[in-house]
Amino acid sequence: MERESILFTPFGIGGLTLSNRIIMAPTYLGYGHNDGTVSDLLLEHYKTMAASGAALIVVENTGIHPSGLGAPSMLRIDDDRYLKGLAGPAKVIRAEGALAFIQINHAGRYAFMPERMAPSPVPIGKATPREMTLEDIEHATAWFARAAARAQSAGFDGVELHGGTGYLLSQFLSPRTNRRTDGYGGTPQNRMRFPLEVVDAVMAAVGKGFPVGYRFIAEEFFPEGLHTDEAIPFAKELAKKGIAYLSVMVGTHESFALEPYATMEKDEGYMAGHAATIKKAVPTTPVITAGRIQSPATARAILEAGKADLIGLARVLFADPLWPKKARGLVSAPIVPCSPSCSLCTRRVMTGKPPFCSQWDKERRQAFLGRIGETGSPEL
Ligand SMILES: Cc1cc2nc3c(=O)[nH]c(=O)nc-3n(C[C@H](O)[C@H](O)[C@H](O)COP(=O)(O)O)c2cc1C
Repeated sequence: MERESILFTPFGIGGLTLSNRIIMAPTYLGYGHNDGTVSDLLLEHYKTMAASGAALIVVENTGIHPSGLGAPSMLRIDDDRYLKGLAGPAKVIRAEGALAFIQINHAGRYAFMPERMAPSPVPIGKATPREMTLEDIEHATAWFARAAARAQSAGFDGVELHGGTGYLLSQFLSPRTNRRTDGYGGTPQNRMRFPLEVVDAVMAAVGKGFPVGYRFIAEEFFPEGLHTDEAIPFAKELAKKGIAYLSVMVGTHESFALEPYATMEKDEGYMAGHAATIKKAVPTTPVITAGRIQSPATARAILEAGKADLIGLARVLFADPLWPKKARGLVSAPIVPCSPSCSLCTRRVMTGKPPFCSQWDKERRQAFLGRIGETGSPEL
């Protein structure tokens, strides 16, 4: 039990005070409707997550433009008509006493429709995206800025730019997916240019006092891809701009199956080493680390070692939404761990089925399947 732990000390980001060091890292579960609007299921989910005792909930990646949706049920923030619905998650999260941020994203070459745009026409499966023109780059920058302003209008406390998982912002950064020969490609400085221009535009759109965080890719794991030595100067540029935090992750959808990622991904705190490298490079910028942080003792050790300032829980919080309360001793029961050998939630997300967790007890699984109208047994 970690009642007295650093885990339960306040921490400031971008002018806001988090009541403890635990955040819910963004986790897309496909609980939204197929038109990108908020569903009751999604609202219930965020209420449960916020009631966990985590200080900050980052709502899953949300689409800034129809051309950049990663899946049909991805939430959308590309038009004012989504504002009313998006106010829902902000409200339920805040009602539970947590801060509410939302992650905004353009999927680029990972968009789900056949027509895609990306920095360069690097094939993905059977699709080859078209190379973005300078006009496309200008438009995409404006879409990010307008989406961030909508997040503010919808009542969120801050916004996070999705610069991880191989989506558009990281596609520009990576020499593997950015083969441009103009001012947005080639040298590391040119490859950083688009994400940095997006940060400027977003900061200008929301004004001072509204934190802008960044989901940050520290390593891609492809020999010809982005490596940590190039990610470090980018982190320094983001820090100079006054980014509220860097939420450090590694890998992209294409590199998740590669070694060493596939092996390290099973380990507790598997991204903490990369977070520590980034933290060392930008000591005054808050750094979040996530990745199977199953036990409060591991979380405390990461914080005490100065590897990160904040602990992100994604699948871990989904498996046990009482993790923070149990860690604090407010609920006396063992934490239910996310099983490293299970990928049920991810598999269901990939096949468009609302996910549940294999670690939930049978009654909870049964109730969830009833809730989504899925017939069949809750046995796995
Ligand atoms: C089903 C699923 C959906 C995810 N969705 C997002 C997302 O929308 N945005 C994001 O930045 N990361 C996303 N992630 C990555 C998580 O935020 C987190 O970094 C990773 O899962 C490691 O933490 P964990 O072991 O607690 O799950 C997702 C991960 C999973 C498994």
